[in-house]
Order: sequence, then C-alpha cells, then structure tokens
Amino acid sequence: MALRQILNNNHPVLRIPTQEVKKLNSAVQNLIDDMIETMHEAEGVGLAANQVGVSKSILVACPGQDQELVLINPRCEKAEGEELGIEGCLSVPGEYGQVLRYQKITVSALDREGKPVRIEVEGLPARIILHEMDHLAGVLFTDKAVRMIDPEELKSEQQSDEIKSEEQI
Ligand code: NI
Repeated sequence: MALRQILNNNHPVLRIPTQEVKKLNSAVQNLIDDMIETMHEAEGVGLAANQVGVSKSILVACPGQDQELVLINPRCEKAEGEELGIEGCLSVPGEYGQVLRYQKITVSALDREGKPVRIEVEGLPARIILHEMDHLAGVLFTDKAVRMIDPEELKSEQQSDEIKSEEQI
C-alpha cells in the first residue's frame, strides 16, 4: 500500500467524467487499497479515484468509525428528500459551502470483489456518496454550493444543530 497525492481543484482530470471499470485486476485492487490509506491519512471521509489522478469510476467512503465502503461503477437508482449541509473537499482545501443533497438514496454498484451490491443510505453517508459520485462525473461541490461559508463563520456555527457535517469528502 502507498499514499497517493490528492490533486487539487485546478487539475483538469477532476473535470473529466471517469471511465467505467471493466476488469477488477490487481492494479485496481492496489488502487483501492491506496485510496483507503490516502483517505484516512488526509482525515477525509471519502475519496474518488480521479482525486488521485486515476480516471476510473471508483469511490471509497468512511461513513462511520471502522466502516469502509468501496463502490465501483456506482449508479443512483432512487433518491428521496433534500437536505442542506456543509461540505468541504480534500481537493478544495480550506473551503466549505452549503450544498443541497438528497437525504436518502439507493445506489447500485460492484463491491471490490466484483459482486453487485445495492445499498440504501441516508444522512451523512448519503451526502458522502453523492459528493464522491459528483467527483466521478467531473463535478465539484463548489459548482453547486448554494453559499460558501467563511471559516470564521464555520467555527461559530459549529454550536448550531443546523450543521450536519463539515468534513472533507
Ligand atoms: Ni471531494
């Protein structure tokens, strides 16, 4: 396993929709291991393959402690409700913004063994997966933030119940 460099938002590969994964070979398995390690090292809760420069449809997420999720070729099949929450991004360091996301989603994908999976998630895990799926489509949260949040304001709002998340994803 090895740490990979996380690209920042002016890198053009982040703007190109990723390719579907056709073969789960050892290069893909190594990439997934490296993405998980890189996500944890950066203290992020999600990472898309193109954020480390590989234009493939793979995301990893850490929606809770000791929980790791690997989704290959994810597709959103069902979405319900909407919720505003604060997001940051490992590729857009130091910036945060309010983003409207579906509250509850059903996603189909392959797991890292290539087995088809279908998961239903809501709240923060849904937000993380939607943010990463946007990365895979070449979209950054700054494209759709309804409002960017000043870091000072973020500190003062952390007391508020309104804030659902401020993690970098
Ligand atoms: Ni991100």
